[in-house]
Amino acid sequence: MKKYTLPATAAMLALSLTACAFSGEEMQSSAAAPAASAAPAAVQQAAPGSHKILIAYFAYGENAEIPDGADASASASIQPAADGMTGNTGLVAREIQKSAGGELFSIRTEAPYPASYDATVEQGRQEQQQNARPALASHIEDPASYDVIFLGYPNWWGDMPMALYTFLDEYDFSGKTIIPFCTSGGSALSDTVEAIRTAEPDAVVLDGFHVSGSSAARSGNSVDNWVRSLHLAD
Ligand SMILES: Cc1cc2nc3c(=O)[nH]c(=O)nc-3n(C[C@H](O)[C@H](O)[C@H](O)COP(=O)(O)O)c2cc1C
Repeated sequence: MKKYTLPATAAMLALSLTACAFSGEEMQSSAAAPAASAAPAAVQQAAPGSHKILIAYFAYGENAEIPDGADASASASIQPAADGMTGNTGLVAREIQKSAGGELFSIRTEAPYPASYDATVEQGRQEQQQNARPALASHIEDPASYDVIFLGYPNWWGDMPMALYTFLDEYDFSGKTIIPFCTSGGSALSDTVEAIRTAEPDAVVLDGFHVSGSSAARSGNSVDNWVRSLHLAD
């Protein structure tokens, strides 16, 4: 099985690493256990059911001009959901909602990504090299009303898509709990949880949860087990 061994910085990324490198998904356990760290493993105790939960996520399939009738099975990153086209991360977001409740929020860029997956891989690389902040088209109506924010994204070149940095620049989540989740072709979370902690230093950022992109469509049980382990309803 293909194993991604991407270096941590964009500068080190070999130009020869072609777009198709990301079309194969590593078959591994459907979700890796959260990495050990000093950060709290579960949301701080609160009265049962008192959390107001937002599930914010970015997925390629909701950020690209996919032609009508596109064959979802032909792309590793276009996934049909009951409410429309999404991507691997969008599927996991919907599983989280089934387990935890809360509201879904799709992070959308003003400029859509190319319908061509390969062109998107290249654009993502360039945006990372430029430390870009793609403008967002979607905005949370009342961010202050949420105390728990699940934050989901695909691994793009060993990092979050740069739109996630725009998102984190836009909101001050001080005092809130952020719960990262990520899908990837094999790189897993890379250093994204640390990046979120840096961007939101006064939030409690839990250890992240990874789902292999190829397992996203059947991640329900592992997502449910993980969400239960967070004790959101205790
Ligand atoms: C621009 C771009 C860069 C990517 N870089 C990586 C990577 O560095 N490592 C990896 O394992 N997968 C990488 N992938 C694959 C995605 O992380 C994976 O397919 C993910 O599940 C896609 O989620 P989505 O369908 O919600 O967008 C990349 C995909 C794209 C489009």
